[in-house]
Amino acid sequence: MGCVTSLLNTFLFCFSTLLIFLSTISISTDTLTTTQSLTTNQTLSSPQGIFELGFFSYTNSTWYLAIWYKNIDHKTVVWVANRDTPLENPTGFLKIGDKGNNIVLIDQSLHQIWSSSNQTTTTTTSTRNSILQLLDSGNLVLKESNENYPTKFLWQSFDYPTDTLLPGMKLGWNLDTGMERHITSWKIKDKDPSSGDLSFKLNYHGLPEIFLWNKDQIIYRSGPWNGERFSGVPEMQPTTNSIKFIFHVDEHEVYYSFSIENQILFSRLFVSPIGELQRLTWIKTTQVWNKFWYAPKDQCDDYRMCGPYGICDTNASPVCQCVKGFHPKNQQNWNLRYGSDGCVRNKELDCESDKFFKLHNVKLPETTLVLVNRSMNLVECEDLCHKNCSCTAYANIEITNGGSGCVIWIGELIDMRQYPAGGQDIYVRLAASDVGFGGGSNGTNSTAKVAGIIVGGAALILLALGFFLLWKKNKLQCILKGKTEHRGSLERSHEFLMPEVGFSSKREQSSESNIDDLELPLFDFNTITIATNNFSEHNKLGQGGFGVVYKGILIEGQEIAVKRLSKNSGQGIEEFKNEVKLLVKLQHRNLVRLLGCSIQMDEKMLVYEYMENRSLDGILFDKSKRSSLDWNRRFSIICGIARGLLYLHQDSRFRIIHRDLKASNILLDKEMNPRISDFGMARIFVADQTEANTMRVVGTYGYMSPEYAMDGIFSVKSDVFSFGVLVLEIISGKKNRGFYYANKEWNLLGHSWKQWIEGNALELIDSSIGDLYSQSEVLRCIQVGLLCVQEHAEDRPTMSSVVLMLSSETAVMAQPKNPGFCLGRNLAETDSSSSKQDESFTVNHVTVTMLEAR
Ligand SMILES: *[C@@H]1O[C@H](CO)[C@@H](O)[C@H](O)[C@H]1NC(C)=O
Ligand SMILES: *[C@@H]1O[C@H](CO)[C@@H](O)[C@H](O)[C@H]1NC(C)=O
Ligand SMILES: *[C@@H]1O[C@H](CO)[C@@H](O)[C@H](O)[C@H]1NC(C)=O
Ligand SMILES: *[C@@H]1O[C@H](CO)[C@@H](O)[C@H](O)[C@H]1NC(C)=O
Ligand SMILES: *[C@@H]1O[C@H](CO)[C@@H](O)[C@H](O)[C@H]1NC(C)=O
Repeated sequence: MGCVTSLLNTFLFCFSTLLIFLSTISISTDTLTTTQSLTTNQTLSSPQGIFELGFFSYTNSTWYLAIWYKNIDHKTVVWVANRDTPLENPTGFLKIGDKGNNIVLIDQSLHQIWSSSNQTTTTTTSTRNSILQLLDSGNLVLKESNENYPTKFLWQSFDYPTDTLLPGMKLGWNLDTGMERHITSWKIKDKDPSSGDLSFKLNYHGLPEIFLWNKDQIIYRSGPWNGERFSGVPEMQPTTNSIKFIFHVDEHEVYYSFSIENQILFSRLFVSPIGELQRLTWIKTTQVWNKFWYAPKDQCDDYRMCGPYGICDTNASPVCQCVKGFHPKNQQNWNLRYGSDGCVRNKELDCESDKFFKLHNVKLPETTLVLVNRSMNLVECEDLCHKNCSCTAYANIEITNGGSGCVIWIGELIDMRQYPAGGQDIYVRLAASDVGFGGGSNGTNSTAKVAGIIVGGAALILLALGFFLLWKKNKLQCILKGKTEHRGSLERSHEFLMPEVGFSSKREQSSESNIDDLELPLFDFNTITIATNNFSEHNKLGQGGFGVVYKGILIEGQEIAVKRLSKNSGQGIEEFKNEVKLLVKLQHRNLVRLLGCSIQMDEKMLVYEYMENRSLDGILFDKSKRSSLDWNRRFSIICGIARGLLYLHQDSRFRIIHRDLKASNILLDKEMNPRISDFGMARIFVADQTEANTMRVVGTYGYMSPEYAMDGIFSVKSDVFSFGVLVLEIISGKKNRGFYYANKEWNLLGHSWKQWIEGNALELIDSSIGDLYSQSEVLRCIQVGLLCVQEHAEDRPTMSSVVLMLSSETAVMAQPKNPGFCLGRNLAETDSSSSKQDESFTVNHVTVTMLEAR
């Protein structure tokens, strides 16, 4: 069985039941008057019982006044009053100050250890009949008893957020009073609420944006608000039926906020100490906080990843590209995939004759130093930029209603990224010769040159258009074939911000965001014992590397799969932590989903969602069942596995080598969507590591690449090898190991290759598929399979090329060389007419080469 992951914090969460709440006696109401006080064993509760105010401690030696959701079991603290000045023992209390205009926290020796007025800009007037009230919004307010108008409140906790933005809270500036509100992480999640290093702060200069800071370093920026969403969050849906995002700008106030129309939905924006901004929503049915959205998501979200005039594109290789008309400043570093030096102009600007080049679908560059005029249109904007020689680019501010407003950049363009869809357009100033088509301009006759440019340009446009349409058409294929599991990186991002409101109804489309349960629930050992019928033999699903897997049914009816790690599995607590960390962090619809863990004494268990159709090998290699896999089904399984693996290798924030990819580790859900499982052997590579060596070769014969089996060297390319084997198995319905053709000299790989070079590749196809299949699709898959199992790792494509080749009939594909481990290894070298390798399979290089069987 597979597993999934997250991080230490999540792991710790499993154990964070140490939290002590003395809150047994609720002061009957939601209010505290000047004559009352709140001791550490008392709480206030909001009128409808949504939030609770009280004290908590993790250690007995530090006590904090805080607000949390009253009815959520794992107390989720959303606000802490005295985060940096805890009470040292539980004998303190909270009361309204003597003048009635602040609240104070008093310790055992009657010293004031915290007061709301240390934060407020002095409210000196004294008030007689003030009350402290906890509202159902989670706002704790100090006000005159009959005053309900928010601007008249004497003090409110919403003005002093901790690490959480609740609906109705504002993140930003009141420009009249100079008051700023931002959120700052805890020092240690679920352990230490004191101010941590991470904060999310709005900068109102230029065109306002929100920045995630780690101490004094920016690590991520939202991009400016474009009327619908943040420029850097294309997946943000302007109209969700439950969460409404608000970005307000006027001369008095600049803030970001959100509101929830459906009262029963809990959603919060939270900055976690690990450097992630997370929007979490509470899922009632499973009682977990679900990660609805988070950032930064990938390397292109890292601030200034590609330096000035660089543009980061996760679908490109390398991810850093220069804006048209620019080239890398430091080619050597650039080649080494180090992009932060950025790019420089090919040709200096001339000012007068400069032109603008339009970039589509980008995250606008940093807007702190820009000039803004909200009433100008795009034409006026171009004019303004053109007139000022230091203007480097311009764009509309808002994208709604066809676009409006004008923003112009003076100086470098920083932190841009390319989106497949959903970004914004920006017009970048270039020397005229860098804009046009006829770059090679050393002609003698200028008229001829111009004519040449026009004709050449037109031809190029037509050609480009043709290619684009072709590409687009083909690009759609794999995606459409995948039916419900349509996704490339562009689809994914859209799913993230989809509202999870009708909780179950949206599951199909956005299963990915359902996977994001960061807060891993800890299952009780007894619950699991009951669910699995005391680990009965009858419930056994299989035996994996590190233990036995059981099927279980929770009392609520949810089906689960439980991996019970054998005590002598060799998987110690460290490896277990590893797996849990890894699994929780991985979120992809083609990876199996971890629901929780359970730990009791030396019993360690992982709880996964149950996959109705079990594993691929159970169907593929079973005579009676394999006919249920028609070609479309198989193709979508191949595409799904490829995407899952691409995610592991490249898109997730780690580089993960699975090391044991095989048919039995591919699980199939109700709709036969594949999910990669079993990460017990997976390895995380640090950023630049490309291969590693292991003394202990783990994995499964038949799927292991030669360099791994023989020398213990593994890299993404060893996974690619296993993937290739899997593809050929899926097409042929035969196991690589145990399949021998004719004189028993060939295994499946050797046999497939032989058929391929003899031009009989279609004979490989499993007869139970029938006649309903696209020949070119099958051939393309066989070619991909063969490319993946080539003997030399460096010949094998990367998973991103594989995904591209699978989804496009027009991608350039090399002719496969001989596979590794096919026996007959030195049979004639293929005439590798096309020696294009991995990197050339980018969209730019798409050409029209229809594949033919040879
Ligand atoms: C806190 O104090 C209680 C009793 O006062 C004790 O039982 C508990 O073990 C203490 N917890 C910690 C974490 O020290
Ligand atoms: C609550 O705490 C106060 C002082 O801290 C103490 O006097 C009182 O007895 C406590 N009440 C209960 C029910 O524990
Ligand atoms: C208020 O702030 C001052 C310094 O700004 C500090 O000396 C004092 O201890 C603080 N008082 C409280 C109650 O936190
Ligand atoms: C913005 O543009 C409009 C229209 O061109 C102009 O009338 C106005 O003065 C500009 N505002 C500023 C602050 O420059
Ligand atoms: C261009 O804009 C910058 C920034 O506002 C300004 O300092 C500079 O004077 C302007 N130059 C011209 C020629 O208008």
